[in-house]
Amino acid sequence: MKSSVKNIFPRSDFHSGVLEMIKFKASPRALEISYAIRDLVLVAEKIAKETNEKILYLNIGDPGQFDFKLPDHMKKALCNAVNEDYNFYAHSAGLPELRHAIVEYEKRKNGISLSVDDVFVTSGTAEAINAILAAAFLPGEEILIPSPIYPPYLSAAKFFGVNPVEYNTIEEEGWIPDLDDMRKKVSTRTKALIIINPNNPTGAVYSNKLVKDLIDFAGEYDLFVVSDEIYDQIVYDINKAPNTASLANDIPVLGLFGLSKVYLATGWRLGYVYKHDPNNVLDEIWSAIMKFLTVRISASTPAQKAAIAALLGSQEHIKVLVKRLKERRDFFYRRINEIEGISTQLPKGAFYIFPKIEIPSYSDDDFGFVLDLLKSKKVLFVHGSGFGRKGRGHFRSVFLPPIHVLEEALDRLERFVKEIKK
Ligand SMILES: Cc1ncc(COP(=O)(O)O)c(C=O)c1O
Repeated sequence: MKSSVKNIFPRSDFHSGVLEMIKFKASPRALEISYAIRDLVLVAEKIAKETNEKILYLNIGDPGQFDFKLPDHMKKALCNAVNEDYNFYAHSAGLPELRHAIVEYEKRKNGISLSVDDVFVTSGTAEAINAILAAAFLPGEEILIPSPIYPPYLSAAKFFGVNPVEYNTIEEEGWIPDLDDMRKKVSTRTKALIIINPNNPTGAVYSNKLVKDLIDFAGEYDLFVVSDEIYDQIVYDINKAPNTASLANDIPVLGLFGLSKVYLATGWRLGYVYKHDPNNVLDEIWSAIMKFLTVRISASTPAQKAAIAALLGSQEHIKVLVKRLKERRDFFYRRINEIEGISTQLPKGAFYIFPKIEIPSYSDDDFGFVLDLLKSKKVLFVHGSGFGRKGRGHFRSVFLPPIHVLEEALDRLERFVKEIKK
């Protein structure tokens, strides 16, 4: 495959004294990695520099970049961990005291019974995704992923030689998985089903019944389930999204969680993967994941120590977080629906909204829409096609900023839409 990056550097040849061009090729599979959420950030920074205008960034799901800050007991716990000399390499599976805390936390939160050996601590949920895709599959095996999807599942699968097969979700019904389509997409090579609930990028939250149907589907086709639950307590009309493992009985589940969203600590880079595996069918995969985690040594030790305070300490900030986010969601949803040419489903969880572009000149060109909006009105969203096939014709926005910022961004969007419709 031809590399798209020019890797040509002049280098002097010490023997001949002749300056020659030497070309170092990079790994094609690394060059192919893409992460739509940050794709246009460099362009935005360049535009900001050239025009001296402020860009409204609504592309990245990082609460800490807006007015959401960690509860004080978490900040103190991190300082204490450093002062108490928790600055060494931890065990690759995680600090034993954190793994115990996770067992207790999962019991309290989801009612599931894990043992300490069923938990591995990772550098963010992102590393858990990589570890699973690196360790659990033979080349060419397939995973079923929802479309649209949080992009690292697609790129990590491709990187590690796993074939990601996108199943449709039904936008009109709140972006829920289309079980009929899943039946068409499953094959003898399919090994796992990925669920993200609550969902990024759509904000969908699956009902108990739907999660059970998905588990039954996995059982019927002999798949294990990877359940990404990083937004589980950020839901607006119920208390908590249904937990997959607690409904799974004997179907094997790898559950993923992290401190970045519910606990607002994106920069701590802390997450974990747990296994619910009553029939021990995941034993070999679990050992392979451990091997993968061993070579990266360990997740940040001070962050691990402090995570105990996050998981087992006061949970009061979550109510406040959800209440504030709900006000922002309601505002965003109401205001965007006033803009002719854009329509959207109501997000039921997480902090993303995934509107549809209904302007003929752009309905198939979500990238052009996002880029032209950025150039013309200095607002940055993420193009929907960066989230897979079903994302085409859409864009993703966060509703994390304060309402006056959202209002400004949506006013600018409205002006842009009026101009392009003329
Ligand atoms: C669905 C989903 N999974 C995983 C992650 C990665 O989170 P972390 O910061 O824990 O690596 C994100 C981040 O946006 C996400 O949306």
